Amino acid sequence: MNSFFAWIGGKNYLKKTIAARMPDSFSRYIEVFGGAAWVLFYKDRYAEMEIYNDYNGDLVNLFRCVKYHCPELQRELSFLLNSREIFNDFKQQYTKGMTDIQRAARFYFLLKVSYGSNGRSYGCIKKDILAMTQYLSRIEERLSAVIIEKKDFEDLISVYDRPDAFFYVDPPYYQAEKYYQIEFNEDDHIRLYRKLCTIQGKFLLSYNNCDLIKDLYKDFYVEGITRQHNLMARYKGENNDYKELLIWNY
Ligand SMILES: C[S@@+](CC[C@H](N)C(=O)[O-])C[C@H]1O[C@@H](n2cnc3c(N)ncnc32)[C@H](O)[C@@H]1O
Repeated sequence: MNSFFAWIGGKNYLKKTIAARMPDSFSRYIEVFGGAAWVLFYKDRYAEMEIYNDYNGDLVNLFRCVKYHCPELQRELSFLLNSREIFNDFKQQYTKGMTDIQRAARFYFLLKVSYGSNGRSYGCIKKDILAMTQYLSRIEERLSAVIIEKKDFEDLISVYDRPDAFFYVDPPYYQAEKYYQIEFNEDDHIRLYRKLCTIQGKFLLSYNNCDLIKDLYKDFYVEGITRQHNLMARYKGENNDYKELLIWNY
């Protein structure tokens, strides 16, 4: 199935390639930088134990509300119209005096009707609010056995690391960190590398293809892949290849 929203750096375009390169067996599957979890939703189940994690509290609140309060969230969404006025009001009022369910509904609405899912500018796009609300029931079912965490990656990896663990690691890309609400700087990229060097389990990491990352991970398996750039592909016909890296330790 597909995720329920688009997200900057979301792996809709790479999910098949990533799933095809996963280890043959593992008993726990951990998405360290969950975002919209395109890889998680791609399959009905990867392992007995599955964990979604992100450090962005709005995202985690949305995932928790879909998992634990889906009918209430759907009810809240049923009052909404795809309108610029509502969009702008929501942006201004966001989180002030709201319950978690109201906050989740507004965050989801802002993502769905904004330009490029940036949550900031009204997208002027057709959106079937009823269909997007009903789809949440399928997401609720997929998440029924998934643990939802909100931790910094280093702590999360320490908590779930075992020899039979498999981590899918999709950090903010190097020099593209500004697109996320959560700050991620060069020290964080190095911190991630150091942590991944110490784990007992297996990892598969996705990154943009750049010298710093290639140099850091030179002792691991590294594969270069090319795909069309998500946003540019909409506007340009040619020369919009985007180069990425898949890196793993097994
Ligand atoms: C490239 S996106 C993940 C996209 C995801 N794989 C998908 O398919 O939608 C990176 C995510 O890392 C999260 N993040 C940033 N810093 C983090 C940290 N220190 N620990 C955990 N997650 C973090 C961001 O909030 C963002 O959602």
